[in-house]
Amino acid sequence: MERMPDGRSFYITTPIYYPSDVPHIGHGYTTVAVDTLARWHRQAGDDTWMLTGTDEHGQKMLRTATANGATPQEWVDRLVTESWFPVLRTLDIANDDFIRTTQERHERNVQNFLQAVYDRGYIYAGEYEALYCVGCEEFKPESEILDGTVPFEGLKVCAIHSKPLEMLHEKNYFFKLSEFQDDLLKLYADRPDFVQPVSAMNEVTQFVKQGLKDLSISRSTFDWGIKVPWDDSHVVYVWFDALLNYATAVGYGEDEENFARRWPATHIVGKDILRFHAVIWPAMLMAAGIEVPRGVFAHGWLLVGGEKMSKSKLTGIAPSEIIDVFGSDAFRYYFMSAIAFGHDGSFSWEDLAARYQAELANGFGNLASRTTAMIERYFEGIIPPEGTITDGDRKIQEIVRDAAANADAAIDRLAIDEAVAAIWTIVDALNGYITENEPWALAKDDAQRERLGTVLYTAAEGLRALAVLMSPVIPKACETLWIALGAAETLGRLRDQPIRDAGTWGQLKPGSSVNGLAPLFPRVESTID
Ligand code: MSP
Repeated sequence: MERMPDGRSFYITTPIYYPSDVPHIGHGYTTVAVDTLARWHRQAGDDTWMLTGTDEHGQKMLRTATANGATPQEWVDRLVTESWFPVLRTLDIANDDFIRTTQERHERNVQNFLQAVYDRGYIYAGEYEALYCVGCEEFKPESEILDGTVPFEGLKVCAIHSKPLEMLHEKNYFFKLSEFQDDLLKLYADRPDFVQPVSAMNEVTQFVKQGLKDLSISRSTFDWGIKVPWDDSHVVYVWFDALLNYATAVGYGEDEENFARRWPATHIVGKDILRFHAVIWPAMLMAAGIEVPRGVFAHGWLLVGGEKMSKSKLTGIAPSEIIDVFGSDAFRYYFMSAIAFGHDGSFSWEDLAARYQAELANGFGNLASRTTAMIERYFEGIIPPEGTITDGDRKIQEIVRDAAANADAAIDRLAIDEAVAAIWTIVDALNGYITENEPWALAKDDAQRERLGTVLYTAAEGLRALAVLMSPVIPKACETLWIALGAAETLGRLRDQPIRDAGTWGQLKPGSSVNGLAPLFPRVESTID
């Protein structure tokens, strides 16, 4: 996706989640990825805005509310306050806004948008009969309709939910999606990174090349939704309503200045909802004469026991199950580093526990505590100056410089796992450097005092860069490390350190004092059998 000069707008979104599910680690994965990218850009000085929220209309919501003896509004209010707001704190998310599709700022401007597209001639009334999946909230294409097996023999089921489809026959309003086939194909050809990764772009292009059908965008058999402005016997189709959150949240229809400042957005979505974002959404915007998004990135699925993790298949894991044991930083680090962003990845407790111990506790945490402890022991807690530099010291400086540049380039490509891998070269190099230079042996020889100072300065300055570069991923541990390095007093707040300058050597001030550091990643008693 296009690179912006410093200070330019960076607007990034998560999908808005259906609150009828309790949040699981699949939702957490998307949200943490978006938060990591937003934190990076914010710290780079870009004019950053991160949006998340909930998708509260539609038949699925109405049915679960009714089944639970509540009105849909009571039901969503309860779920959003009891589950969806708190999970953001659990995951340590620094979102700038949270949109709910039942908010007036959204409903009003969905109507404005619909009216505008209607007035431009892209909406007409028609009849429709097709198989609908309430789980997907979608009329299913042939390719996603399967014959049911026990207990749904003889029925047609959804390929994603394995649940029976419902035949719906309704008078609906239709959006002329078919008219946008050529414009969409031209968009994909002109901007090959409009959809990422490449596999997602190929899938979308293939899909559009096969021809597009007009889209039913209203429903008249229930009323839990936004009314169609010219016909209040219809409510707007939930996906048409939901996609518009990205525009209404930043002022579409009522605060054009803010809209111009933020739009266009970068959308991060799971691959299950790629087509809505890469086909329908840009077509909707084209129909209204609005610029298309900056890009759409589809990440893979978290698999548990080889299957897409989902609550309905009883493989759902709540983020708090992991975070209560390992902490939010470990959750964030694990999912951002262990899974190639854009590919499926298997979650297992064993893998999480092993990486926590090897990479966070022994790799990063130990490096930080050894370095600060040695500065306390050998230099009364005062960071020593750097003396004469050897090739080995210079090598560390180069690794830090390259890691920072490579990580920033990876973030530009939205390759979060590659960014973490680039930064982690500093952890590995510094651990090797300490082992090779044996500061504990240098400390025994007064003649090596200057050399000891150089080695410990190098380690501490490397940690300074690590704290800055890793803070978008593991903000809590980096904040603790920042305080321990005494950097807050001399360099200011961690969040104010420009991330694109993190690789510039020599920022930590000799003469400043380090503070005691409790283990960043304490031992976790294994509860895994
Ligand atoms: N409400 C729609 C999205 C509307 S956006 C305008 C929706 N909601 S959802 O609650 O089902 O959440 C979808 C998103 O949650 C997925 O796109 C994905 O980002 C995330 N995930 C849900 N399950 C997941 C996995 N098992 N693995 C990875 N991500 C998953 O669809």
